[in-house]
Amino acid sequence: MKAHENVLPIEATGRVVAIHDRRIGSILAEQGKLGVTDIERIMELQQLEGLRFGEAALRLGLISEADLRWAIAKQYDLPHLLPGNESISRELVVAHEPFHPRAEELRALRTQLLIRWSNAEVRQRVLAIVSPGSGEGRSYVAANLAVVFSQLGERTLLIDADLRAPRQHRLFNIPDRIGLSAVLSGRADRGAVVPVPEFGTLSVLPAGAPPPNPQELLSRHALTVLLNELGTEFDVILLDTPPAKLYADAQNVAFRAGSVMLLARKNHTRVADTTSVVRELGDTGVRIVGSVFNAF
Ligand SMILES: Nc1ncnc2c1ncn2[C@@H]1O[C@H](COP(=O)(O)OP(=O)(O)OP(=O)(O)O)[C@@H](O)[C@H]1O
Ligand SMILES: [Mg+2]
Repeated sequence: MKAHENVLPIEATGRVVAIHDRRIGSILAEQGKLGVTDIERIMELQQLEGLRFGEAALRLGLISEADLRWAIAKQYDLPHLLPGNESISRELVVAHEPFHPRAEELRALRTQLLIRWSNAEVRQRVLAIVSPGSGEGRSYVAANLAVVFSQLGERTLLIDADLRAPRQHRLFNIPDRIGLSAVLSGRADRGAVVPVPEFGTLSVLPAGAPPPNPQELLSRHALTVLLNELGTEFDVILLDTPPAKLYADAQNVAFRAGSVMLLARKNHTRVADTTSVVRELGDTGVRIVGSVFNAF
């Protein structure tokens, strides 16, 4: 992914550091990770060696790296998983490692989308994540983007509209017995949407049981009705899709969503394939609101 901006002021200097350090200390103390005497020892070492609070605490072995990352994330108001929560996939890098360069890139992508949406005065923020081939990172980007939107407090819904090789239920460790396939075929209602409390305002609609007719299901008007209905409950709706070059499913989902974020993987996606997907999307009047060059 291409990073366009550095969002987090991690390398603060001077007086800011002092304020920053004090807060880290009190966050860790509130959490019961540090006692009063620990803090005194840390501050002593800090002064002696000119270290930051976190560095000194680490050096003394009073906290772990994970404790420090957690405290920094809390300080900058970036809700993320508490260290040790392994029930959610490590692929959700924005949750597990909020300061990883990829997490910063995903937040930059979120910023760009928000700017485009506000410039275009978009009423419904519904976006299909589309790319030509398999293994290009659609599910990864969709999942991580959903998490960063929810970290802003946006009511976010991630729909797994890849009814062929669904993966979102595994990334978020939720059941997928009932999902989009059942909703579109009229066997379930919006109760199939699963809130993911670890992320506050995030919900996931898994793909559900694999249907024999994914393309036909996704071309039904029921998908438009569902998106309109859910659009009143959620600020942002993202849809994961199957490879656009292989199946017409992605075109159907994009058409119902109205907007697309187009993804290409470095040294993998062929330019000709991207061009033909863009042409087909254009034919159905779908807007391409963003593009990602996924380099990994
Ligand atoms: N930016 C990235 N950084 C690191 N790993 C990535 C990145 N993007 C994708 N991956 C990894 O590449 C693999 C394929 O990604 P993913 O499953 O998201 O692709 P996909 O386009 O959804 O594939 P499929 O066609 O199977 O649906 C996964 O293991 C994922 O974790
Ligand atoms: Mg996928």
